[in-house]
Amino acid sequence: MAPRHFLDLDQIDAATLRGIVDAGHSFKRHRRDGAKPLAGRTLAMIFEKPSTRTRVSFEVGIRELGGDALLLTPGNTQVGRGETIADTARVLSRYVDAIMMRTDSAERLNEMARHATIPVINGLTDRSHPCQALADVMTVEERRGGIAGATVAWSGDGNNVASSWIHAAARFRFRMRLACPETMRPAQSLIDWARAEGADVSVTADPEAAVRDADVVVTDTWVSMHAESAAGGAAAREKLHNQLVPYRVDDRLMSYAKKDAIFMHCLPAHRGEEVTDSVIDGPQSVVWDEAENRLHVQKGILAWCMA
Ligand code: CP
Ligand code: NVA
Repeated sequence: MAPRHFLDLDQIDAATLRGIVDAGHSFKRHRRDGAKPLAGRTLAMIFEKPSTRTRVSFEVGIRELGGDALLLTPGNTQVGRGETIADTARVLSRYVDAIMMRTDSAERLNEMARHATIPVINGLTDRSHPCQALADVMTVEERRGGIAGATVAWSGDGNNVASSWIHAAARFRFRMRLACPETMRPAQSLIDWARAEGADVSVTADPEAAVRDADVVVTDTWVSMHAESAAGGAAAREKLHNQLVPYRVDDRLMSYAKKDAIFMHCLPAHRGEEVTDSVIDGPQSVVWDEAENRLHVQKGILAWCMA
């Protein structure tokens, strides 16, 4: 039987994703019940770049379900000395029960999945962050009672996290309005895919238009990890920042959203850049619940992958 990979939300059907998020809500309610559905299972966590939330939430998550986790980085494995991803996938498949991978290259993740005989989970690539998107859906559902029909506004770089929000809009049936500088829009092929799936997704350069009457306002860092080397020089970074200043989520931009709108950010936040302290620390912010929900929804992902 083919392993149940969790690579991207466009590759998994809506009913399965609904089941994973429902499991997340349930794991949250029953966190201290002591059930150990993954007893004896081991997750290998490959991090080719830094993480706080993904690392800790996966490790704590599998432990709470009775399993264990191993941390692998390029510096402490042969991958760092040139062993191929394919060979690494074959070997890890003989030792552990699932692999979670964070990498700068979606191609490396897909290569791992092609050669592994165990489930592979996307812990963020340059193109997407599906675990984050499911935690975000779960958080909106907690706050609003549901997400179908809601309007979600994204203001900033149309990056990996934005891409997974677009996938989620199609799978969970909510409206997505993105405001991005012209040069930082999500790929047109992604927008076309979402529309073909029946999703209501639009992209503008105008943050006020995107945020007007939204139920949820979301942003993310101006320079993602995979873009850091490209934007390495101070001048390049300043140019990116200058383009993104109008997209900063501050009290003025939030005032265009519904009165009871929530503010979301996957974190880490760059306070004073993409979001002001007053918003992220204000009454509309749900960012700490959002971070917590990574733990619960990823238990749902682990349980589904390893069922
Ligand atoms: N949001 C998120 O994935 O955070 P980390 O980079 O800390 O894992
Ligand atoms: N877009 C950010 C998300 C970090 C969790 C990045 O890729 O760096």
